[in-house]
Amino acid sequence: MEQPATKTALVIGSGGGLGGAVVDRLLEQNSGRVFAISRCSNKISDERVHWRQCDYSEEAIGRICAELKESAYPISTVTICNGTLHGANYYPEKRIESLQPESMLEVYKINAVIPMMWVKSLLPVLAGKHKCVLSVFSARVGSINDNRLGGWYSYRASKAALNMLLKTASIEYARRAANVKLIAFHPGTTDTPLSKPFQDSVPDNKLFTPDFVAVQLLEAMERANPTSGLEFIDWNGKPIQW
Ligand SMILES: NC(=O)c1ccc[n+]([C@@H]2O[C@H](COP(=O)([O-])OP(=O)(O)OC[C@H]3O[C@@H](n4cnc5c(N)ncnc54)[C@H](OP(=O)(O)O)[C@@H]3O)[C@@H](O)[C@H]2O)c1
Repeated sequence: MEQPATKTALVIGSGGGLGGAVVDRLLEQNSGRVFAISRCSNKISDERVHWRQCDYSEEAIGRICAELKESAYPISTVTICNGTLHGANYYPEKRIESLQPESMLEVYKINAVIPMMWVKSLLPVLAGKHKCVLSVFSARVGSINDNRLGGWYSYRASKAALNMLLKTASIEYARRAANVKLIAFHPGTTDTPLSKPFQDSVPDNKLFTPDFVAVQLLEAMERANPTSGLEFIDWNGKPIQW
């Protein structure tokens, strides 16, 4: 039987470009056991990877968190990668006339609600003496201060909402799970399906590989100090204005 003391990382949204890269990097660094959560079926054949398919319903999230709690694995890092910018029926809005309630709600659900359902259900799993860093992929365009160009209403607003939800959660975590540090992380424009339609205007040296971003994120998580509250930082570790 496996020894519970082995370090455990949890990667949620492991079927995406950045989620997959974080799993690969953790394996490359031999960081212990990796719980990988995705809508997709298992993409990785490696005995260190515990893949769980999930439809992100509250019940499914609750079941996985109950399994993690029961296993008593010491979780060192959690990375929540879920996010959407465009889909079959929606695209980032350039004009206010493009706002559609159904797509606004869908983007809000994937970018803010689903990550927060994990932050909620993980609190009793992570609370304890063991240092844990929980990172959620946010985006610089979620910064209200930084919004000079406008457009992308739903994506911007959902990431701004995510940031506020994380800020509020970090205050409660500080009381109830002080061992957990929260990070809202902006990866920079990264070559994944999410950014594909928008890559033409990005200079080559500004379009990151998912692996580069995974390394930057894992280093930021390694450096993180649990007592310093929520940080909103970019791929280079630089703070972003709220
Ligand atoms: N790529 C960039 O340039 C860029 C820039 C700024 C911020 N980000 C943020 O980085 C994160 C990762 O994005 P990515 O670039 O890796 O994009 P991606 O390759 O398109 O991956 C999409 C991610 O979102 C999840 N997802 C997609 N549709 C979903 C749905 N209907 N319900 C629940 N989850 C869903 C996927 O999880 P499954 O494994 O379950 O499929 C996957 O983790 C996102 O939060 C994104 O906003 C990316």
